Amino acid sequence: MLNIALVGCGRIAKRHSELLGANCIQDAKLIAVCDQNIDKAKKIATTYNVPYYDDMDIMMNKENVDVVVVLTESGNHANHVVNLAKYGKHIIVEKPMALTLEDADTMIKACDRAGVKLFVVKQNRFNVPVVKLREALEAGRFGKLVLGTVRVRWCRMQDYYEQASWRGTWAMDGGVLTNQASHHVDMLEWMLGDVESVFAKSTTALVDIEAEDTAVVVLKFRNGALGIIEATTATRPKDLEGSISILGEKGSVEIAGFAVNQMKTWMFTEPEEDDTEVMERYSVNPPNVYGFGHHAYYEHVVDCIKHDKQHLVDGLEGRRSIELINAIYESVETGKEVRMRFMPKYCRLGR
Ligand SMILES: NC(=O)c1ccc[n+]([C@@H]2O[C@H](COP(=O)([O-])OP(=O)(O)OC[C@H]3O[C@@H](n4cnc5c(N)ncnc54)[C@H](O)[C@@H]3O)[C@@H](O)[C@H]2O)c1
Repeated sequence: MLNIALVGCGRIAKRHSELLGANCIQDAKLIAVCDQNIDKAKKIATTYNVPYYDDMDIMMNKENVDVVVVLTESGNHANHVVNLAKYGKHIIVEKPMALTLEDADTMIKACDRAGVKLFVVKQNRFNVPVVKLREALEAGRFGKLVLGTVRVRWCRMQDYYEQASWRGTWAMDGGVLTNQASHHVDMLEWMLGDVESVFAKSTTALVDIEAEDTAVVVLKFRNGALGIIEATTATRPKDLEGSISILGEKGSVEIAGFAVNQMKTWMFTEPEEDDTEVMERYSVNPPNVYGFGHHAYYEHVVDCIKHDKQHLVDGLEGRRSIELINAIYESVETGKEVRMRFMPKYCRLGR
């Protein structure tokens, strides 16, 4: 049984605590929570009958923790992960793992030195239709890859950004690309491979925040495929779509829904026996845009720790989309195509 503690008891802690606190994950349980706002920690602790703290160091020293989960503001992830690494316990950090490449590298080094695993939460990779798409890709069913598109059309009004002062700021959050669409950026790169160059435009259309609420990105991949990212939180009046489509010379797959949850198209020039069932069997209806992925994600983490397996999104894998997002912002700032790999000069994220 893995003893899991949470640092940060805000919005996303609800999802983590309801899985771990209600014993939904085999061989893992919630044993303590911490938030610098003690009332928030107390609320979750009372629901699941676990101790609560307002200081992560006191919690780590007092409790018998096997895995600690960092659910604080994105711009704080690096400081908190580096601080926690000294306790020699495995660490899960919510997406995005960091805002800058320097922070991502510091986190990876700190965890390596401490001999602990660093897991980055990318729960959408575990969505049922996404797993099926990845299987088809790995089996080579698409042939030459031609075009990949991800689209996030969600609704975040001004009151969402006003819930906490870090939201939408360059120093602590970034905009739709870094926050809401970071899953989709990650997924596109996971499916199509290394990026050769990006060109992007963004705008802050409907809310008063520092970073963007809307962006479009054109990508060229090293394998010759092209890509499009369309991301906005300025969809009104409600969430509309979170989707991915992959087109290749021998087939096309579209996963739609508002949380990359519904198989919409599954067609190949060389059909296989179970293709006819795929549309029905590989769709789910989650209650919100977080999807069901956190459940499968935790099962994966427990499996990796118990059997010392390589995990799907470790620090180095998490770093890839941080580099890509920084390159996208660099293109926005300079108005130029940015070639990968690269080091940021003008991008404001995390600064
Ligand atoms: N995987 C997903 O789908 C998903 C969804 C939502 C949010 N997130 C990510 O989760 C992170 C948190 O987002 P949120 O919406 O829950 O934010 P939030 O503002 O609601 O919660 C953050 C909490 O961290 C606490 N905190 C900050 N510093 C602390 C410290 N030193 N010690 C203890 N607690 C501390 C704050 O008091 C706050 O309660 C972000 O990185 C966000 O991108 C991921």
